[in-house]
Amino acid sequence: MSSNLAIKLRTGTQKSHTAAENVGFMKCFLKGVVDRGCFAKFLGNLYYVYSELETEIERHREHTAVSAIYFPELNRQAALEKDMEFYYGKDWRSQVKPSPAAQSYIARIREVSATAPELLIGHAYTRYMGDLSGGQMLQKIAQPALKLEGYQGTAFYNFEQIPDKKAFKEKYRQALDTIAIDDATTESIVAEANNAFRFNMQMAQELEGNLIKAIGKVLFNSLTRSHNPGSTEIATAN
Ligand code: HEM
Repeated sequence: MSSNLAIKLRTGTQKSHTAAENVGFMKCFLKGVVDRGCFAKFLGNLYYVYSELETEIERHREHTAVSAIYFPELNRQAALEKDMEFYYGKDWRSQVKPSPAAQSYIARIREVSATAPELLIGHAYTRYMGDLSGGQMLQKIAQPALKLEGYQGTAFYNFEQIPDKKAFKEKYRQALDTIAIDDATTESIVAEANNAFRFNMQMAQELEGNLIKAIGKVLFNSLTRSHNPGSTEIATAN
């Protein structure tokens, strides 16, 4: 019997997705306004988040529910290390630290891993499905805006082992649907995905100050005035 987890995650996080797309940093990004320093900080936080997430998923790779979404080809830690070295050089570890929101995000991943590992599914879904969707658009914007060559500095978005993103997303959704869980667990995974969205929004919000310094308050305000409709509120998934 299908848990319908894939569609429940999609519909249950639509509002969060719309809100995430409407954070100033993201709105500017979508308009091609992204500063190298901010982008490097953004990826730096993600390095710490993915390191934690991937360690915990690995730990629970044989867990009845988590095993269904164990796809090591998604792993981003190594790609993010490459990006960190590109922006900060060999001693990047001494320069890049997780922000306060990133620290809370990491603490939450650690907590659910210890107490309710199935909730890791909400975290994995939120990040990886996003990276394979909107993330690909963000790479196409960042690369010319930051005058980068190929995937240099955007290795994070390059899923070398997943050439067909659309097919993989379909496989991921099917894997979600095969997980045998009751309604209460389904609901808590959706709630956890919404928590993951919230942490991601907070990390983007933290960067707003840096971005305003880089581009100026007047430009920032004019770029972020409108409210954008949400990409996942459109009826058909692809
Ligand atoms: C400017 C920012 C963003 C844009 C333009 C964007 C765009 C999109 C688009 C077009 C889709 C639909 C693709 C599909 O139906 O398969 C999508 C799906 C998704 N996005 Fe985003 N996104 C953005 C930010 C985010 C953020 C910050 C997150 C969370 C960290 C996120 C998580 C997701 C997830 C989980 C899905 C899959 C929905 C599903 O089909 O279940 N997105 N995004």
